[in-house]
Amino acid sequence: MAQQEDVFKKIVSHCKEYGFVFPSSDIYDGLGAVYDYGQNGVELKNNIKNYWWKSMVLLHDNIVGIDAAVFMHPTVWKASGHVDAFNDPLIDNRDSKKRYRADVLIEDQIAKYEEKIEKEVAKGRKRFGDAFDEAQFVSTNGRVLEIVAKRDALHARYAKAMEAMDLEELKQIIVDEEIVCPISGTRNWTDVRQFNLMFKTEMGSTADGASTIYLRPETAQGIFVNYLNVQKTGRMKLPFGIAQIGKAFRNEIVARQFIFRMREFEQMEMQFFVKPGTEMEWFNTWKQTRMAWHQALGFGAENYRFHDHEKLAHYANAATDIEFRMPFGFKEVEGIHSRTDFDLKQHAKYSGKKIEYFDPEDNQSYTPYVIETSIGVDRMFLSIMCHSYEEEQLEGGDVRTVLHLPAALAPVKLAVLPLVKKDGLPEKAQEIMQELKFHFNCKYEEKDTIGKRYRRQDAIGTPYCITVDHDTLNDNTVTLRDRDTMEQRRVNINELRAIIEEQVSLTSLLKRL
Ligand code: GAP
Repeated sequence: MAQQEDVFKKIVSHCKEYGFVFPSSDIYDGLGAVYDYGQNGVELKNNIKNYWWKSMVLLHDNIVGIDAAVFMHPTVWKASGHVDAFNDPLIDNRDSKKRYRADVLIEDQIAKYEEKIEKEVAKGRKRFGDAFDEAQFVSTNGRVLEIVAKRDALHARYAKAMEAMDLEELKQIIVDEEIVCPISGTRNWTDVRQFNLMFKTEMGSTADGASTIYLRPETAQGIFVNYLNVQKTGRMKLPFGIAQIGKAFRNEIVARQFIFRMREFEQMEMQFFVKPGTEMEWFNTWKQTRMAWHQALGFGAENYRFHDHEKLAHYANAATDIEFRMPFGFKEVEGIHSRTDFDLKQHAKYSGKKIEYFDPEDNQSYTPYVIETSIGVDRMFLSIMCHSYEEEQLEGGDVRTVLHLPAALAPVKLAVLPLVKKDGLPEKAQEIMQELKFHFNCKYEEKDTIGKRYRRQDAIGTPYCITVDHDTLNDNTVTLRDRDTMEQRRVNINELRAIIEEQVSLTSLLKRL
């Protein structure tokens, strides 16, 4: 675990050192849980967004996109339930004066039991070697069964307390489990209290009678309030979806793990409107579709899992998370929710407008049900970084830091490197750049030795480098180097575009879906 924490720390510093992610307002020592994306980060982020957007809007002829404003009428949040129910249960440690989410403290405790189980399994594997049968071991080993029983009992108690939002019981669980503050190491806890996560601001000057408005905590409501506009102007027939990418804001109390939990972040959400009664079928379809989207990146199916919710949000009748194996355990990257007709009905009630769908086949009007897929761009970014980062041991004891980013998402696709800064090589390299830069993101570099330049490109995940040398001037060929294998081969300049495009284009990735 400590080793994994070290890896995570290295990833965070790598992100800063190589222009992926900086703390916000860095020269003022940062702002808690707010981050800026640098020159490479913004490219990777845009590629992730493009991959999502195209998989939704381009590949589904019944999904369209919108871009709603961050500010919305304040009644939206009353109707959606966020003013009354978008709360976290908080607890303070009196000694460290640190504030925690009670549910997170308990979930961390559950994770500790899981770690213990994994440790026992690892011990068993070591002891029994090839004859090791994990399923049998887990179902018969006394120590494992004991930990599993404790974990399951805690899980059941926690789920019940969260379901009822029983704050006293949450506190009691923390006391009974002897959970200590990670900073002070003490169990000197306050009671658990509710805390609303929405940021407020004021619109208009006070003299004019300013009104309190909220920074949206999810982009979904921008879709719900535009349901009628899109359905009518797009003449959309059920089932159909509306997709959106945009900023969301939450006053997270436990902001930690870098860009995993931020106060300003970006969501990619899609609301899929369906006929009531068909929602479970669509829920399952979207579960599979979204998992396929993740797995097409090639990180290995074993690094993903579904986690079905015990405690459903105030609007849902089914919900699951797609979790990814981060260095700090399996964590939610995406949520898939069956939101019923809750939101549209609430907006109809609060706005006084009829928000329905006339079904020409049934000759009747009804409020559509909604399946939502909701993924955080930043969390997706983090999962990609974590999986791609490697400190590779090379022959001779050397270590190279490489980002094995999926080629279609890499910030730079091709680095164009003249072997030396003379003899017409820079000019030839520039000529190649001028041709290829219209097709994919290329970077020209002539400073330092070729070896150092390769390493710099490895560190930002550039899938290909080409080196322009003296032979290039005679035979029009360059050395093409592959980031992952480090293999080099000679190719004709005229073939470069086709070879690279095949590997790095988003189209190739989308075709895997
Ligand atoms: N509209 C439904 C909704 O917002 P959610 O589970 O609260 O559901 C969806 O959020 C996704 O947004 C999460 O799976 C996560 O990827 C991302 N997300 C939520 N809160 C976040 C935060 N504070 N920082 C970064 N990403 C966050």
